[in-house]
Amino acid sequence: MEHNLSGAARPIRRLRKMNTAAEGCTMRDAFGREINYMRLSVTDRCNLRCRYCMPMEGVPPTTHGDILRYEELLRVAQAAVSLGIDRFKVTGGEPLVRRGIVDFIRSLKALPGVRQVTLTTNGLHLPSLLDGLLDAGLDAVNISLDTRDNAQYQAITRSSHTADEVLHAVRLCAGRLPTKVNAVLLSETAAQLVPLARLAEELLVDVRFIERMPLGAADASASEPAHKETIDLLRAAWPDLASVQKRCGNGPARYYASTKLNGCIGLIEAVSHAFCASCNRVRLTSTGLLKPCLCYEQGTDLKPLLRGGADDAALRDAIEQAVRGKPAAHCFAERQAVTERKSMNQIGG
Ligand code: GTP
Ligand code: 5AD
Ligand code: SF4
Repeated sequence: MEHNLSGAARPIRRLRKMNTAAEGCTMRDAFGREINYMRLSVTDRCNLRCRYCMPMEGVPPTTHGDILRYEELLRVAQAAVSLGIDRFKVTGGEPLVRRGIVDFIRSLKALPGVRQVTLTTNGLHLPSLLDGLLDAGLDAVNISLDTRDNAQYQAITRSSHTADEVLHAVRLCAGRLPTKVNAVLLSETAAQLVPLARLAEELLVDVRFIERMPLGAADASASEPAHKETIDLLRAAWPDLASVQKRCGNGPARYYASTKLNGCIGLIEAVSHAFCASCNRVRLTSTGLLKPCLCYEQGTDLKPLLRGGADDAALRDAIEQAVRGKPAAHCFAERQAVTERKSMNQIGG
């Protein structure tokens, strides 16, 4: 498999269709992929300690000054929009633990040229923030829930919170905005596949099962259900479950539908399926590293530019440089080739 880690001499193809940022232009990487989506991590902190994501002791103490200020994030977003990125996913850690998040989302959505702002959250703060988020213009939400069993939820998240709290948040969101439930596939939650998928029967939500990636705290040794097994188990409950072309969001999920389900079932084959040929994204960590791919440590540090008086042209050049360095594909299947050492909460998912 070809990896282009340096991205060196390949010119970036920026096809300017229009002159104004608001009307957009198209940015393509060295492999011709259109890059129109940025994940913005607003914090590495979290109110949970999911076993596969974060060390028990939490993140090494990033000081307040290490984390990009909202104005800095907005400046990056604005520069990204002028290059053709028009959809943003707000991530963390847990994005809703950062003070001022609703106003940040409002400001992000109001930037000229921004088409879509979505959020990935563990859902615990949604009941108190949902009205504000809807008013701020949030377009969709993904809520992480790996099990419906309260004791198991506490064991996985190493917290005293419950699956019921998250289910309450899911119910509040369903029907009010496009809502997806994210469940990371874990060996101990195999019996939860059908109960979790049943949420797509009970409510207007999509339910996605995600292959656990060998990053940070994730232990690569445990055996987890493969995708064929997952689909077979779900087909036993919904025999007409069939693959559909439908896209529900901007991510790499493949979707399945049944006449008995309101929402779709999605599979995110983050390790086994090379969806990288259609990758559309870059990710900004909460400390300002612009990462072209989840699985490699490489990135372009935007913080020195943001804090060193760089002008917008320099910021745009740096974003283009990161896009130019986008590799052809991730290498999660060959674990020793994964160079990223940060944990998921530090990367932003
Ligand atoms: P939407 O479908 O638009 O909502 O986006 P999404 O599925 O990318 O967002 P979400 O934040 O819910 O991520 C779901 C899972 O997909 C998480 O486990 C992410 O880490 C994983 N994921 C997102 N982008 C990538 C990617 O580029 N590569 C890999 N391997 N996994 C990704
Ligand atoms: N592999 C796959 N998904 C992960 N997430 C966190 N860590 C991992 C991992 N190692 C998921 C969270 C959340 C999303 C942002 O990423 O559960 O749904
Ligand atoms: Fe927090 Fe999400 Fe990591 Fe769980 S997966 S510890 S909810 S950042």
